[in-house]
Formats: sequence, structure tokens, C-alpha cells
Amino acid sequence: MTPQSGPTATALPPFSARLRERSLRMHRDAEGSTYLAALTDGRLDLTAYAALVGQHAVIYQALEQLGDTFADDPIAGRFVFPELARRPQLEADLAFLRARGILPAAPTEATTRYAERLAELATWPAGFVAHHYVRYLGDLSGGQAIGRLIATAYGLVPGGDGVRFYVFDDVKAKPFKDEYRLLLDAMPLDEREQEEVLDEVLLAYKFNVEVLTSLAEQVLPQYPQVAS
Ligand code: HEM
Repeated sequence: MTPQSGPTATALPPFSARLRERSLRMHRDAEGSTYLAALTDGRLDLTAYAALVGQHAVIYQALEQLGDTFADDPIAGRFVFPELARRPQLEADLAFLRARGILPAAPTEATTRYAERLAELATWPAGFVAHHYVRYLGDLSGGQAIGRLIATAYGLVPGGDGVRFYVFDDVKAKPFKDEYRLLLDAMPLDEREQEEVLDEVLLAYKFNVEVLTSLAEQVLPQYPQVAS
């Protein structure tokens, strides 16, 4: 065998950097949600907030059910952190809202499509990681500010009843996200597989934007005083 000489491949940037860079535009679309803006500005009420909690309940049920099936998978299993689990927090938030006589809205069509896509990923561990990244890194980033704004806007205690979804008791966001990016960078993916995961990340963002748009369409018309 002759030793290879010269460069054999162009080094790619770390995968986590590619993910962030590739999704910047979609992230701006998510941030631009008129429903989220109205919600976090305090122009709505707890009933309008409950519509979002209802969508999250369906999405995280599908995402974490998938995580359960991947717990022992060599790729996806490394991302299944029990301390990220949101189902118990969402159940607590729904119970709090119900006790106030507020029922969550049914899943919108966009939410149902998102959950259906998640169910399709049972045979693709790296596809699960794409969705995991978009939701949990988002929750640990902008989600933290969103939770505080919702609490103060609607008379809840930040981190308390009704907004437990935004509380990660055993996670320190900054070091956790740094470690998480290292895990992404260590995924054994060749360039083609990286591209497939990048596409799935964009799809996950698209689902999230569509869910927020569906809430804008469903909820905002009931608040005529809200200029979007
Ligand atoms: C008003 C809405 C939002 C605001 C203000 C916001 C803000 C932010 C900020 C400031 C960061 C950077 C944090 C850091 O580097 O530590 C971030 C990261 C992130 N956000 Fe959002 N965000 C919003 C909505 C969303 C939504 C709806 C999603 C998708 C469900 C999302 C997904 C993400 C992800 C995946 C990251 C991590 C990017 C990376 O570093 O790889 N965000 N967000």
C-alpha cells in the first residue's frame, strides 16, 4: 500500500457551527412570529397562552416518545438527557391552567404534521437529533427569556406554576449548550449525512414556524385590539 500524499478532503467547520449558520434565516422567521410577539408583549391572556402549551404537549409527547425508543442507540442515545424531559412540566402547566378553568386548544394541523414527522423518524437516529437540537437548544436559549416574559405579563411567578415548561432544574444553560455542541461535533456523520441532518434541522424549524403561524391565525383574531 502506498501512503497517501496531499490533502484528501477539505476540512468542514464543526458540525454545530454548520447547524447554527445554516439555520440563521429560519431562526429569524421563528423569532418574527406575530403570535409570540403578542404573547410576550402581554397583549394576550392566559387562554391564548394555553393554546401554545397545548401544542407543546403534543410535540414533546412525540419527541420524547421517540427519545425513549432511542435511549440505547449509540448516536441518538447520547442526546437523551432525563433532565431535559418536558412532558412532566407540560402536564403540570396544563393542570394549573385547567384549575383556572382554562382548557388548552386542540392541536392545529401544523402541530399534527410536526408530530407525524417525528413519528416517522423511529428508524433514523440522526434525524431525531436534528429535532432534538431545534427544540431543546431553543428552549435553553431564547426560550428562557420567553418564559420570563410570559410569567410577568400574565401575573405568574417566573419559574413557577403555569410556566414550568421553561424551567430546567438540573441544567446550567451555558455549560450544557457548550457540551451539547461538542456532542453534535462528535457525531459520526460523513458529509452527505451531515447534509441530510442539516435539511432535517431546517424542516424542524419550518414545522415550528408553521405551528406559530397556525396559532397566529387561530388565536389573534379573537383579540381585535392586538395589532400584529
Ligand atoms: C422570540 C423568539 C425567540 C428569541 C428571542 C430567540 C432567541 C435566541 C437567542 C438569543 C439565541 C442564542 C443563544 C445562545 O447562543 O446562547 C437562540 C438560539 C437558538 N434558538 Fe432561538 N429564539 C426565539 C425563538 C426560537 C424558536 C421558535 C426556535 C425553534 C423552535 C428557536 C431555536 C433556537 C435554537 C435551536 C438555538 C441554538 C442555536 C445554536 O447556537 O446552535 N428559537 N435563540
